[in-house]
Amino acid sequence: MEMLKEFFTLNDGSTIPKIGFGTYHEQFGNNLDPIRTAIKVGYRFFDTASLYETEKYLGQAVKESGIPREEFIIETKVWYDEMGYEGTKAALDRSLRRLGMDYVDIYLIHWPRVTGAPDENWKERDLETWRAMEELVQAGKVRRLGLSNFLPHHLKNILDNCTIKPVVDQLELHPGYSQEAAVAYCKANDVVPMAWSPLGRGRENATIGNAVLVRLAEKYGKSIQQINLKFLLQKGIIVIPKATSEAHIRANLELTDFALTEEEISMLSCMPQTAWLGEHPDFYIPDKQTNPDNI
Ligand SMILES: NC(=O)c1ccc[n+]([C@@H]2O[C@H](COP(=O)([O-])OP(=O)(O)OC[C@H]3O[C@@H](n4cnc5c(N)ncnc54)[C@H](OP(=O)(O)O)[C@@H]3O)[C@@H](O)[C@H]2O)c1
Repeated sequence: MEMLKEFFTLNDGSTIPKIGFGTYHEQFGNNLDPIRTAIKVGYRFFDTASLYETEKYLGQAVKESGIPREEFIIETKVWYDEMGYEGTKAALDRSLRRLGMDYVDIYLIHWPRVTGAPDENWKERDLETWRAMEELVQAGKVRRLGLSNFLPHHLKNILDNCTIKPVVDQLELHPGYSQEAAVAYCKANDVVPMAWSPLGRGRENATIGNAVLVRLAEKYGKSIQQINLKFLLQKGIIVIPKATSEAHIRANLELTDFALTEEEISMLSCMPQTAWLGEHPDFYIPDKQTNPDNI
């Protein structure tokens, strides 16, 4: 699996696999198998979050694999109902307990602001959260810090005030929702963009079924999903697809035997932006709370 030998370099000089494995809980339920399979196939970078309720399964799968902990990159996130200085420290301790680990490799703020209300204090809350996260790095509980769903105006607030820079910003990115301004701002500030839902969550109205993708899939003898992933990777974006079937888990690594042309990348970048999944950092943040029973 050549894809697993490809890495991006982060602004602290460390490296990260170009492809990780998403663990958003919708299809996983209590099923450990997709994570077990991903580890068996060779994935070592895993994305989870306190919200997903998959931290404990990820921790269990890593432990039972017998592979040393330090070979994995484990990324988790603080949800907005956990944020603030004290809240963040407590949230990370809960995540570590569920993972059964004593550190995480990358800790992200999941969303920059709270859903619904005008949320006038978001800048202050983000900075308090970041201050706690920086102390968690000093305490050895976290290796690197990052962000998720931070648009340029949210990211600037952190960059202007941080001691430790974020290494990544996880954004919804796939053909039909390219967020070019956010990606350009990340790159200009040496923050590597990472695509969440890089396959448009498999929705018919998202990326699949698009004529440009269909044509490119035929040309390269690849699936539409593989074209999606290659497009993002060639744009310098980390991808974290989730898959439950072993065939998909494997197929998402078969990406090194072809390359899109510059013209094709431009075509995909300029597709109508109609594939947005419907969550927006300033307006439509998912109205979910962390589950107090997820301990
Ligand atoms: N930061 C955030 O706010 C945020 C938000 C959403 C997601 N995320 C992260 O991003 C990860 C990925 O996003 P996602 O889970 O929403 O969706 P996704 O990865 O875009 O799509 C997952 C869907 O694609 C299918 N699939 C995977 N590989 C395929 C292939 N090779 N061919 C055909 N179908 C394939 C899967 O089917 P099968 O299951 O049948 O294999 C599943 O239905 C999440 O798991 C989570 O870790 C972060």
